[in-house]
Amino acid sequence: MRWTVLTLICCTWTAHGLIRIPLRRMLSVRTQLRASNRLEVFMRDHQPDVFNRRYAQCYPPGIPSLRLGKSSERLYNFMDAQYYGLISLGTPQQNFTVVFDTGSSDLWVPSSYCVSEACGMHHKFKAFESSTFNHDGRMFGIHYGKGHMLGIMGREILKIGPLTVQNQEFGESVYEPGFVFVMAKFDGVLGLAYPSLAEELGTPVFDSIMNQKSVDQPIFSFYLSKSKLPRDPGGELLLGGMDEALYSGPINWNPVTLKGYWQIKMSSIQVQGALTFCPHGCQAIIDTGTSLIIGPTRDILALQQLIGATPTSIGEYLIDCARLSSLPQVTIMLNGVEYVLTAESYVRREMMGDHEICFSGFQAEDLPSSTDPLWILGDVFLSDYYSIYDRGQDRVGFAKARHTRYTTLDAEMDR
Ligand SMILES: *[C@@H]1O[C@H](CO)[C@@H](O)[C@H](O)[C@H]1NC(C)=O
Repeated sequence: MRWTVLTLICCTWTAHGLIRIPLRRMLSVRTQLRASNRLEVFMRDHQPDVFNRRYAQCYPPGIPSLRLGKSSERLYNFMDAQYYGLISLGTPQQNFTVVFDTGSSDLWVPSSYCVSEACGMHHKFKAFESSTFNHDGRMFGIHYGKGHMLGIMGREILKIGPLTVQNQEFGESVYEPGFVFVMAKFDGVLGLAYPSLAEELGTPVFDSIMNQKSVDQPIFSFYLSKSKLPRDPGGELLLGGMDEALYSGPINWNPVTLKGYWQIKMSSIQVQGALTFCPHGCQAIIDTGTSLIIGPTRDILALQQLIGATPTSIGEYLIDCARLSSLPQVTIMLNGVEYVLTAESYVRREMMGDHEICFSGFQAEDLPSSTDPLWILGDVFLSDYYSIYDRGQDRVGFAKARHTRYTTLDAEMDR
């Protein structure tokens, strides 16, 4: 029974020419560290500054001349990333696990020439084993936290599910900063934002897909499962459209306000019966590579207080798991539509030994913005709401995600 369903969800072409890429949900770096009782030590000892100093001598010479691009303004944090999928590069195919990230635009995987500890833990691209590899030779740098990833550029045949992308520009990392990449369950990142956000790495993957007319519609969409069971599908990336079976109700669209990130206007965010944040409007980035909901420090601290979350010594916010049912709803207003998050949605639950601990799904970070205050809506929001990214009309759509398909089955199986 389960097999049939899994096969249906996974890897099939549908009649509408949709391309389905199964996503797996795996343990984030933070969860792994916590489970092994190393998170506190990590947070204290491995602040990004420390990293930077410790690894500074490892940079190849000539780095200052490298142009470190636009995204250096944004603090990337893949420490919480949990949804990954499979791609391959080259002939014969070399497989990689990547984060499909709507918050960046580059594609990179580790290079076989990389000697960083992180590369030792992951699949590495072997250009010399591929008959279709095109050498470029230029170097690139991507800013991650306070460290720089460095690499060389090339072009290759990229396969995502059944889809083949010719001559895709990508980066091979020869130096990966920091410890997060060491523990990460993914090899690389595949960015799905606009070309203007790309570093020197050239045409983003979805732009190549559109240019090569490999999809009927210039649209992709994300379904993120809430199940943490390893045997369950983690979700689905659909290239070329959306799947009505995965959401219910109407799709509500939001025009993209700035074509770099998938950035839209957010009218307000309100805690039930209490404060309204950004009453005069803010901007929100829709980011599958971010786990939580991120907002300006001032607002988030007030919000944590309203939901009764208390800070730990390492800057996380704890919530008493027994109180979940009494916590207020948080409502996000986008283009005249209310998106309600209950505590079940905005609280992250994690096992520590044999007891469960609960964390606030809101996180403070002051993001530089030339316009209104900037928020990021990550997986906490995107697992409740199916998200649709339309490059044709430059808009993002949301609809209530259907989660019954998996949970009903689980209930049947577990009975
Ligand atoms: C790459 O992944 C595909 C799909 O899962 C699999 O069929 C293939 O055997 C893998 N190739 C290698 C070299 O691991």
